[in-house]
Amino acid sequence: KPNRIIFSGIQPTGVPHLGNYLGALRPWVKLQDGAAPDDQLLFSIVDLHAITIKQDSSLLRQWRKEMFASFLAVGLDPKKSILYAQSDVPAHAELMWILSCSASMGYLSRMTQWKSKMSLPSNANPFDTSTSKKKDAPALKLGLFSYPVLQAADILLYKTTHVPVGEDQAQHLEFARELAITFNHSFGAELLVPPQTIISPAKRVMSLAEPTKKMSKSDPDVKSRILITDTKEKIHKKIRVALTDSIQGVSYNRETRPGVSNLIDIMYHFQEEQFTSPEQLAQDLFGPETSLKALKEKVADTVDEHLREVREAFNNAMSMGDAEMSGVARESANTANQLASSNLKTIKAQMGL
Ligand code: ADP
Ligand code: NA
Repeated sequence: KPNRIIFSGIQPTGVPHLGNYLGALRPWVKLQDGAAPDDQLLFSIVDLHAITIKQDSSLLRQWRKEMFASFLAVGLDPKKSILYAQSDVPAHAELMWILSCSASMGYLSRMTQWKSKMSLPSNANPFDTSTSKKKDAPALKLGLFSYPVLQAADILLYKTTHVPVGEDQAQHLEFARELAITFNHSFGAELLVPPQTIISPAKRVMSLAEPTKKMSKSDPDVKSRILITDTKEKIHKKIRVALTDSIQGVSYNRETRPGVSNLIDIMYHFQEEQFTSPEQLAQDLFGPETSLKALKEKVADTVDEHLREVREAFNNAMSMGDAEMSGVARESANTANQLASSNLKTIKAQMGL
C-alpha cells in the first residue's frame, strides 16, 4: 500500500507558459523527485475537462501531444510518475456519473469557475435562463456546470491523499473532500479518501503586458506570456517590451511597481536557493542606480539559461514519432487503468452494481 498518493491534472492547452511551469509543472517535478519510494504519483492531461468548451479536434490532438512532450521536457519521468491522458482511462467518466448521483446542485451552483468562464457575475443563478441567454454569455452546458464532479472523480478514483493545485482550485478541492465524506456516509464504508490540498508555493506569475492580471494562455496578446519553448531571442524580446513604470531604479513592491516586481519575482523563482526573498534579490543585485533596461536584460538571461534544457528536451520529445510517444503514454495509461478499475470495482460492489 503506497504511503502518499499524489494526483494532479492539467488541461491540454499546448505549450505551457511560465505561469503553468512555475505554478504547476515545476512543483510536480519537485514532488516527484522528493518522493519516498512507496509514494505513488499520477499526472494527467485532462482532455475530458478540455471539451467542456468547444474544441477543434486536430488542435486538441496537437495540444495533448505538446503537453505530453512538456511533461517529459520539464522532468516528469514515466519511470517515477504515471503520466497519462484522462480519456485513456474510462473509469474517470464512470466514477463521475456515480458521484453525480450524490453531488449537490446547490453546492455546484455556488462554484465560481463556471461563472467566470461564462463571464457571469459571481451571484448569477445558473437556472435563470434570462442571464444565461445574455448575448455575451454562451449557453450553460451541463459539462461546464458539473466540471467539479469530474475533477472530484479524477482525484477520488485513485484514493489520492494529496493534490497539488493553484489557489484558484481550493474551492473545487473542498467540494471533492465533502463529496467523498457524504458518499462514504451514504454507503457505510470508507470507499473514498478525502484528499489533502497542497497549494502551490509559487506566487502567481503576472502578465508581461498587464502585470495586474495573471499570465494566461487565453490572453490574446502573445507578448504577455513566455512559453517554455521560447528561444533566447523571443524571451529577450518579450521581456524588453514588458510593461514597467517610469520610476527611477529597481525596487520591489508588488502594489506600487507591479511590472518591475513581476520581473523580479520571475527571476527569484529561478534563484530561490541563492536568496531569501525577491526583496533581497532586488537589493543584492540591483538598486536605485540600475536601469530598467539592465534589469530586463538580467531577467531575460536568467529565464533563458534555466529554460534552455527544457526547450531542448521539448524539441527532442516532439521529434519522437507519434507511435513512440503513444507507446510511452499507453504504458502509463495501462497502469492507471489497473489502479482505477480495481478501486472502481470495490465502489460498485458496495453499491450493488
Ligand atoms: P491558464 O490561466 O493559462 O488558462 P490554467 O488555468 O489552465 O492556465 O492553469 C493550469 C495550471 O497552471 C494550474 O495549476 C494553474 O494554477 C497554473 N497557472 C496558470 N496560470 C498561472 C500563473 N499565471 N501563475 C502561476 N500559476 C499559474
Ligand atoms: Na529562498
